Amino acid sequence: MELNSVIVRGVGGFLPARRFSNYDFPESLNTSHEWIFERTGIAARRIAEPHETTSFLAIRACEEALKSANITPDEIDLIICATATPDKTFPATAVLIQHALGVSQGCGFDVQAVCSGFIYALTLANNFLKLGQAKKALVIGADVFSRLLDWSDRTTCVLFGDGAGAMVVEAIPSEDNPMKRGILSTSLHSDGKFSSLLETTGGVSTTGTAGTILMHGREVYRHAVEKMTKGVLDALETNNLTVADIDWLVPHQANQRIMVAVAERLGIDSEKVIITLGEHANTSAATIPLALWEAQKKNLLKPGDLIVLEALGGGLTWGSVVLRW
Ligand code: ACO
Repeated sequence: MELNSVIVRGVGGFLPARRFSNYDFPESLNTSHEWIFERTGIAARRIAEPHETTSFLAIRACEEALKSANITPDEIDLIICATATPDKTFPATAVLIQHALGVSQGCGFDVQAVCSGFIYALTLANNFLKLGQAKKALVIGADVFSRLLDWSDRTTCVLFGDGAGAMVVEAIPSEDNPMKRGILSTSLHSDGKFSSLLETTGGVSTTGTAGTILMHGREVYRHAVEKMTKGVLDALETNNLTVADIDWLVPHQANQRIMVAVAERLGIDSEKVIITLGEHANTSAATIPLALWEAQKKNLLKPGDLIVLEALGGGLTWGSVVLRW
């Protein structure tokens, strides 16, 4: 059986209006713009208002993505939402988004892989579409991490922000894709022995609350540089490509120093690395689609460009997607 090609039709994003800069942290936190900016590259983040839930942000990102894809919601038959901060324990945030968009065919579900969530969701959508189990999918990364933060813990609360990004992908017969555009490969990994490096203090079946974030930053940093570098090299090898073939590297945006270290190890020009962290901070599952959305708005992405997406997050989970725009 000939598998379908899965092409990217459009991307969208949405950020809450409230900008919270490094200067807005209270004196009692004992931090500074200089410390945060020098160690991470983060200058500001967006913080959701109480009514701005994960689905609220995601719905708006989906509307943008549908507009950029020039398709209507009734054409969508698969919705996958990557989030670690769902509106409710159940139902899935994806079905809330489905209903708000007026979609009632196909299926929707959530994926939980924290900061690697978008890579996981896109991989699942790719598999559904390749096999012909759906035709057009909305793949979403959306998180409201401000609700998971201990705002008195300076080692974590300065790192995160809220946002949502979405991508529309479509299955087409591979014979209609002579330029071999779309998703070329996907790769997912996890290793639960590292789960305590990045976790929450609670959960539904333990404390009955969502908990707050605990992170061993140095250890996560080390794993991120090592695993994201190897992940890109492995993905290139799978496709018989080299670093020189990459037009854009779109890493999960956790820390500018991680992204620079990965770029240096790969020997890729830093101009080819899309970085949106300065104004967004780490929006967890949303960073990659938001970075693509920002790049699209600047007209950086040209048809035929080779793009590598990569992430590492809680779990630990990590993975990559190679695609031709
Ligand atoms: N302001 C001022 N000082 C601070 C702050 C702050 N916000 N935070 C920590 N410090 C202090 C520490 O207390 C420590 O002080 P000490 O030496 O007196 O003990 C000192 O600064 C150095 O702290 P380190 O943690 O060693 O700082 P480091 O250079 O490692 O930077 C950071 C910390 C930015 C968190 C870095 O380790 C990092 O980015 N790690 C990776 C995070 C990441 O990738 N997360 C991705 C996944 S997120 C997800 O999946 C949900």
